[in-house]
Amino acid sequence: MSKSTFIYQKRAHRAPNTLLIESLHYTKKRGSCLDLGSGALYDAKYLLAEGFQKVLSIDHTTTWVQRAKKLASENFQFQNIAVQDYHFPKRQFDFVSAQFILPFLGPENFQPTWKNIYASLKKGGIFSGQLFGNRDGWNTKDTQMTFFSKRALKKLFEGYEVLQCYELEQDGIEAIGNKQHWHVFNFILKKL
Ligand SMILES: C[S@@+](CC[C@H](N)C(=O)[O-])C[C@H]1O[C@@H](n2cnc3c(N)ncnc32)[C@H](O)[C@@H]1O
Repeated sequence: MSKSTFIYQKRAHRAPNTLLIESLHYTKKRGSCLDLGSGALYDAKYLLAEGFQKVLSIDHTTTWVQRAKKLASENFQFQNIAVQDYHFPKRQFDFVSAQFILPFLGPENFQPTWKNIYASLKKGGIFSGQLFGNRDGWNTKDTQMTFFSKRALKKLFEGYEVLQCYELEQDGIEAIGNKQHWHVFNFILKKL
């Protein structure tokens, strides 16, 4: 697979995230799954179609509430809250997906959320998501977002086996059409 397929704007319209698809190669258990920053719920639909018994999607915007209601079933739930307000249960999930959401948390919310994700995974559970690197174009002086150096990631990944980690740096276009210098770490981790 081409590394450029992991850049957000390269995704086919309405398709699930490429990294998510890739991550499912590692998820033998299709029990419960947490989908953080779900957006338009394309990943959630894919997870349900792939046989997950329980999918819980969380997003703080009200934009997708109606769509989530249509999808509601005994296998699918949606919570319209911020991830930092979610009460993560301990050792509950076989798979936690956080596609293009964690960089948007400020450091004060990122650190507790990162710990909560780890605690909420079962042993052997899989995490899939992205963080942005220091050289990303959104890393400005007054940024409210969280960025990492490659060295800092090593510490962050303690307690996990790193199954995949792709660093990408290239000029491109962001979701609303502006030019953007991307510096993105895409990774798939397994809780030890
Ligand atoms: C770049 S979009 C990605 C959406 C989806 N994961 C995807 O890949 O298509 C980021 C999403 O995260 C949500 N989001 C950002 N910060 C959040 C927070 N603190 N709590 C919950 N959702 C958040 C936004 O509303 C948005 O839907």
